[in-house]
Amino acid sequence: MKTIIEPFRIKTVEPIKMTTPEVRRRLIEAAGYNLFKLPAEDVLIDLLTDSGTSAMSAAQWGALMQGDESYAGARSWYRFERAVKNVFGFEHVIPTHQGRAAERILFGVMVKPGHVVPSNTHFDTTRANIEFAGGRAVDLPSPSAKDPAARLPFKGNMDTAALERLIAEVGPEKIPVIMLTVTNNSGGGQPVSMANIREVAAIAHAHGIPFYIDACRFAENAYFIKLREPGYDAKTPLEIAREMFSYADGATMSAKKDAFANIGGFLTTNDDELAAAERDLLILTEGFPTYGGLAGRDLEAIAVGLEEVLEEDYLHYRTVSTAHVADGLEAAGVPVMLPAGGHAVYLDAKRFLPHVPPLEYPGQALAVELYIEGGIRGVEIGTVMFGKNPHTGEERPAAWELVRLAIPRRVYTQSHMDYVIEATAQLYRRREEIGGMRIVQEPKFLRHFSAEFEWIEG
Ligand code: F0G
Repeated sequence: MKTIIEPFRIKTVEPIKMTTPEVRRRLIEAAGYNLFKLPAEDVLIDLLTDSGTSAMSAAQWGALMQGDESYAGARSWYRFERAVKNVFGFEHVIPTHQGRAAERILFGVMVKPGHVVPSNTHFDTTRANIEFAGGRAVDLPSPSAKDPAARLPFKGNMDTAALERLIAEVGPEKIPVIMLTVTNNSGGGQPVSMANIREVAAIAHAHGIPFYIDACRFAENAYFIKLREPGYDAKTPLEIAREMFSYADGATMSAKKDAFANIGGFLTTNDDELAAAERDLLILTEGFPTYGGLAGRDLEAIAVGLEEVLEEDYLHYRTVSTAHVADGLEAAGVPVMLPAGGHAVYLDAKRFLPHVPPLEYPGQALAVELYIEGGIRGVEIGTVMFGKNPHTGEERPAAWELVRLAIPRRVYTQSHMDYVIEATAQLYRRREEIGGMRIVQEPKFLRHFSAEFEWIEG
């Protein structure tokens, strides 16, 4: 069968408010041409993030009603702990309100000023938490990630030769932990192979350095291993996920992604001493170690989500439906990053708007026009996000000019996605009318969230 059907029926619906391009033109102007400043109600298809935006299943909503809200030792805590251990396999499980809280606690304990933390590519919050602890976050993406159009199976891998060089250069004693982000979100949502996980772990352990996985999208990564890596096609996603974590010393997780929860996260490790220090920090800001900033009902929703996300029918639909968007766009001539990742499709604004120079923010112009054209909200990942050094004020073109269209889990149907392909293709046909933008005002840090823009005339 060519048609992929969503492996679920819809029981509850949320209306979408319809708008026209004329109305959206006024709305985005009033928002200073910043998509983060739009009321979500004025968006037709919201592809800003796949984080916290999943549709929960009937089983998850049912589990919510069983939430035990006891302060200490709630039944929901034990259920959550069992569910995490079943997949991740580590001794200590520390719940947090979301992924970045787990990062802050981990790096707060492990990272000292002068330390260096390598990764395939750090997510912004991971990088910021390392820097906040006085460390330096270093990205070592595989050279195969450089060409956005190259259809290679594991473009999320870490460059292990570069890792060896970095260890030799700074010394293993300066590296408190080596991370791998699966899938590699900031690197196009591309997966990391089991061979690369094994190799990074071996290098880390040969130097006595702990190896951690940023596991936000671990199930999508496990499924790509099943599809693309020799020797894994007969294994279940659960078996593959367990093998991935078996090489690691711990993991951080945002349950807002591959646990289908609207909030939540955790930190997990086998190290008793480290876990004790982490729990001390947890109590200071997140809460008691059996709830860590979450309600008992959230712990229940995550426990059920961690099982559902590893179901093969779901993962098949998830990866095929994301690829459907990337392939549909490619067929219409729209430049996209290939192959499709698990959670998002990335438009290549450099090739979409070659006449707009990087310092006129082609990614931002494209994201704004896509909203006007189709009411679709994506996010610029380019010079607006990464071009400005907040310490020196210097501005430089980023390595990429991308617009990420992140697909919330189980939320939109194929007809919504066909509409996204159609609207983007229509915009592509009138790309020459789209000009550059300038920033009217911006904050010192993380400017993409609140900067305001205007069109450059002419
Ligand atoms: N690590 C990765 C790889 C992420 O993608 C995110 C969040 C985090 C950590 C932090 O988790 O949001 O629960 O605190 N990514 C979202 C996104 C925000 O849109 O990509 P959090």
